[in-house]
Amino acid sequence: MDAGLSKIKKPRSAMLRRSSSLQRYHGYVHDYKDKEGSVSIVFSVTEKVGALAGALKIFETYGVTLHHIESRPALEDPSGYEFFVACDNQTGGLKQAIEALRAKSKELQVLSRNLEEDVGMGVPWFPRRIKELDRFANQILSYGSELDSDHPGFTDKEYRSRRKVFADIAYNYKHGQPIPRAEYTESEVKAWGTIFRELTKLYPTHACHEFNHVFPLLIDNCGYREDNIPQLEDISNFLKECTGFSLRPVAGLLSSRDFLAGLAFRVFHSTQYIRHSSKPMYTPEPDICHELLGHVPLFADPQFAQFSQEIGLASLGAPDEYIEKLATVYWFTVEYGVCKEDGKLKAYGAGLLSSFGELQYALTDKPEIRPFEPVKTAVQKYPITSYQPVYYVADSFADAKEKIKSFASTVPRPFSVRYNPYTQSIEVLDNEHQVLNLTAMIKGDLSILEDALQKLLNNGAR
Ligand SMILES: [Fe+2]
Repeated sequence: MDAGLSKIKKPRSAMLRRSSSLQRYHGYVHDYKDKEGSVSIVFSVTEKVGALAGALKIFETYGVTLHHIESRPALEDPSGYEFFVACDNQTGGLKQAIEALRAKSKELQVLSRNLEEDVGMGVPWFPRRIKELDRFANQILSYGSELDSDHPGFTDKEYRSRRKVFADIAYNYKHGQPIPRAEYTESEVKAWGTIFRELTKLYPTHACHEFNHVFPLLIDNCGYREDNIPQLEDISNFLKECTGFSLRPVAGLLSSRDFLAGLAFRVFHSTQYIRHSSKPMYTPEPDICHELLGHVPLFADPQFAQFSQEIGLASLGAPDEYIEKLATVYWFTVEYGVCKEDGKLKAYGAGLLSSFGELQYALTDKPEIRPFEPVKTAVQKYPITSYQPVYYVADSFADAKEKIKSFASTVPRPFSVRYNPYTQSIEVLDNEHQVLNLTAMIKGDLSILEDALQKLLNNGAR
């Protein structure tokens, strides 16, 4: 089962082509609205005099209506200016206007995500700041209260209205807010209790060491109990303290691209509703049991958190075919991964750790077990409605992380990315300024390392 990750939806996006100084636009374009029919562009111009008039003339020439415009002195060249404009994508020749403007600009970046085909700039849009994940809320592939006819809750009016309550919470959620606490009904708690009771019997023998290390902490700190469905907000706060991971409520399935982008920020999109109580051991979609029992424990493990983030970082700006490959790697690791401990197979994938039947099946000699090799794993086909015929085994999370890193280097994109935890933003390393900044930070870390080693040596010598 896949928490909010689905097959690839046609990407909507527009792009950055080259960035560099434009990365510093973050500060004042933070509240631009990427509405349907509206496109946001930032650019800096080389001409000192009449620069804005020249730029506006281009929009006029191509019949493009501007909704909004801002300017400020350029950071690298105080005598020059940078501009932010929001313009109409419905009328006029926006594509031609952008190309004409690009020819006159030192830098130009299209910020909107719904313009890829029209403007044809090559690199799919991706969020640069954690707040931009808010934009995914209304980009879901299905709304949480719309159920397929074969869903166990399809004919249950009360269940459908409960799903709408949870869908609305997620739909209206904004980054930085506490996740609204859910009041679960008696039958919902009973369904959770059944699953909790059965799965916790298996964990000591079937789950990996890291999972079993964290699970008691969730009981102590987050209200994991048979008679209580824990709250996303409590878990999110716990994870933040462990690894910096956090949860966001999600109303339905996200595209693979959006879901993986969340992981780059150490954000996990989690459902909050629970499966239908008539079939507690079955769910056709991710639900809170899958997220909380399957996914959450390992996001508290530093190595696993890094491993998950590496998949997310690799996805940013990646072409569609690579998104599909990364989604497949995610499937065979975060969802259905197994690892070796003292020569024995153990489960670490959430799809296994939240499924009473498959958790047992996966560790028998029935399925085929192959070593995790991202290049091969990424192209393996898989069923989504039955037990997996093939599982991939990792030596360790650290080893899997290194393999993902080297796989990420094969993603064809003209830049590298790095997550800056201080600003909770993605830095695109495609210019000297960014690389120098990174070098300075690494130098700082190296001196801390050197100091610590020296002190350890001194202590040992005493
Ligand atoms: Fe999942």
